[in-house]
Parts: sequence; C-alpha cells; structure tokens
Amino acid sequence: MKILIIGSGGREHALAWRCSKDSFVEKIYIAPGNAGTLDIGENVSINVKNFDEIFNFCTEENIDFVIIGPEEYLEKGLSDFLQEKGIVCFGPKKMAARLESDKSFAKEFMVKHKIPTANYKLFFKSEIKSAINFLQEVTYPVVIKVSGLAAGKGVMIVTNQKEAAKTIDEIFYQNKFGDSGNKIVIEEFLNGEEASILVVTDGENYKILPASQDHKRIFDNDQGTNTGGMGAYAPTPLISKSMLKNIDDKIIKPTLNGLMKDKIQYSGCLYFGLMISNSEPYVIEYNSRFGDPETQAILPLIDGDFTGFLFSAAKGKLDLGMVSFSHSCSICVICASAGYPGDYEKNFLITGINKISNQGNKLVFHSGTVKMNGDIFTNGGRVLGVVSVDKDGNLSNCKRTVYESITQIKFDGMQYRTDISDKARKYL
Ligand code: AMP
Ligand code: GLY
Repeated sequence: MKILIIGSGGREHALAWRCSKDSFVEKIYIAPGNAGTLDIGENVSINVKNFDEIFNFCTEENIDFVIIGPEEYLEKGLSDFLQEKGIVCFGPKKMAARLESDKSFAKEFMVKHKIPTANYKLFFKSEIKSAINFLQEVTYPVVIKVSGLAAGKGVMIVTNQKEAAKTIDEIFYQNKFGDSGNKIVIEEFLNGEEASILVVTDGENYKILPASQDHKRIFDNDQGTNTGGMGAYAPTPLISKSMLKNIDDKIIKPTLNGLMKDKIQYSGCLYFGLMISNSEPYVIEYNSRFGDPETQAILPLIDGDFTGFLFSAAKGKLDLGMVSFSHSCSICVICASAGYPGDYEKNFLITGINKISNQGNKLVFHSGTVKMNGDIFTNGGRVLGVVSVDKDGNLSNCKRTVYESITQIKFDGMQYRTDISDKARKYL
C-alpha cells in the first residue's frame, strides 16, 4: 500500500511513524512533511492548498490511501474532493467536519441530541449590541469563542465585563479572527479537569483510543496563555472504567447516533475535548481529526495493524479487531521556540536528536523543523515532541525517561514544561 499523509506537524510525523510499522505499507509520502518525516518516507513539495495538485500526485504515484491531518483541509472539503474521485481518504467530509469548524453548529447539535455541554448563547456580528448587553448580565468568568477555525486561539476566558468588552471589540470591530469571528458563542465557564477522548469511526462502529490529557497552557502548573498543546500523556487515570462508560453512554453514542439521525456521514477520527466537572463529563469541543500532541502520546500504545484499521474506517467498514492497546503508558513533552505562543524566531540549529534512537522506548516526533545541508533547524513555534513509553505502565519512570531524553536536545531559546503528566497523581 502507498500512503499519502497531508500535514507537517508532530501529529503527522507520529502517523507516518506508526503506519511505517505495518508490514504491507510499501511507501509513505508526506505533504509537505518536516525534517522528521524525511527519515520515514518522502516529503512531497506539492501545494497542498491546491486539491488538483494533490489528486494529480495521487494518480501519478498510484496512492492507495490518503490520511488528512489538519482541520483546515477537512473544512475546505479535501476529503469530499478525493473521495468523489475514488481515492480512499481518512478524515470526515466537510459537512461532518463542521463539528469542529463551526462551533455554533456543534453547540446546536449537542443541544438537539441532549449531549452534555456548557450552556451558551450565540451572537452574529450584526447582534453586537445584544452581545454587549448580555455580557452586562452574566456571572463571570465566561468563555467567548469565535465560531470558526482559529488555530486554537479563538477561545477567550474572560473574568470581568471590561475584558469581555475588549474581546468583543477585537473580534467584531478589529476583525482579529477574520471571517471565523462572524459568529461567536458565549458560554458558561465549567470548572473541572480536562481529558481528550479520541474515537476512530466509520460513522456507525467505533473504537475508543486510550484517554489522554493535553497541557494547553505555556507554563508549569497551567500558568500563562493557551497554546496548541505543550504535552500529553496516556492513558490518564482521570478516566476510570466507570467514567469511560458514562462518557460512552452520555456523549460518544449520542454523538454518533445524532450524526446518523441527521444523515451526516462521519468517518475518521472524532476527538471529544471533555471537561469532567463534579464527576460528570461535558463536551468542551469536538475536533474532526487526531489531536496534537495527543496523537504523539497515543500512537505508541497501539498494537496491531494500525494502517489497516484506519483504512477500514475510511472504507466504511471499521474492523474493530485490527488494533489493541498495550498496558504501556507514554508521555510526550513539547519543546517550543522562545516566545511561543506569541511571536518567535526560526532557524536555530537543533542538536542531539540523533542521540534518541526513535526505537524502543524513546522517540522524537518533529513538529516545526526543517533540514538544510544535513542539519536540522527550528521552523515553527512547537518544534519537537519528545516521547517516552513505559511498558509497565509506570508514569513516574516514564516521566524520568522523557526528561532524560530532553537533556540531550538543544536549540537556542528552547522552552518546555517540566510537569507533563503530574496531574495524573491527583487521580490515582
Ligand atoms: P478549545 O480551543 O475549544 O479547546 O478551548 C481551549 C481551552 O479553553 C480548553 O482546553 C479549556 O481549557 C478552555 N475552555 C473552553 N471552553 C471552556 C468552558 N466552557 N469552561 C471552561 N474552560 C473552557
Ligand atoms: N491538542 C488539542 C488539539 O489538537 O486541538
């Protein structure tokens, strides 16, 4: 089988790495890929925004299977486009991807199908006065979300009326989020602990992957601004067996049944961003794709024929028996550029990656890297995901190993959190 993976981040490197372990996978192309994916397959320099170019490449290289990583391509209908042309493609079609790309759609869907989520109100740009009036009456904090895609930056937790007014001004008057900010959702702030549950589905059958926890804030102890995710670990003890059953009954099944009832065919990975509040799960957000960095932590825990498993979902007949989960645990720590998630510089030399073998229990997945003249340089805000796997499922040992690995890696301005997975202790 020849595979094309679309994307250039740590998630795509992890997907390429995991697919390369399946014996019938003959060749993996990654478009555009990064310095890490070069070690696994061939990076393709086509313009991934041009769907015809992707299709032509698939035809020329006899690609059997396309896996789409990032949400922006799903929102623009890449899966629809390729499937119409007869190419098997992992990732939902545009209508189904609205669960992520249109938060107002997702909220209406959850209310309609009685899926627990924070109470909310929707405002269009033309309703700015009503939004401001509403924000004079609410109890703070509240959460203001732009409805469209915003690369993880469109969610603002505001603690008073002044902050709320500033946020509304940025969204509606300064157009900080472009068209993504044409509608906003103002919702109740939920207190609790977050977890990420990723499910692979063909729209009807589904398999729940090991539960993980992302660490969104830039600094230790969840301080500082939100980022795309500074690290993740799996499985998380926050999600006990009984909690998972509760989530399955109240959230996963009703979501998939709701999609079927509404005649929205969803095939791909469906990511449930959850808040466990007073021992009850609520949906904070849906993502229509694998999470980043959750994927880097979860994939090393999956045994069996992973590529075949994804392929079966894409073909509409999920083969649940193709994969199983080991008793290992894993931790992914993101090494980021100085300044991230704000402005940062690129092109700093990275050393030490080759001291970590990418075999056994120590792995490095590249996020924002580029190779030039044999050396690897930083090329993004999130640069590397350093991963450790502990086959006995011992998170303390796993944490020791991952931070030992990190000491090998150096680049100017490198920053990382030192507490990834510490939350787990609270739930044990
Ligand atoms: P999102 O980009 O939708 O994942 O949101 C970013 C982060 O904002 C989440 O990971 C939560 O930490 C936080 N958040 C979003 N919605 C709520 C909410 N209703 N209550 C509390 N925190 C929230
Ligand atoms: N880790 C959060 C996300 O992928 O959106």
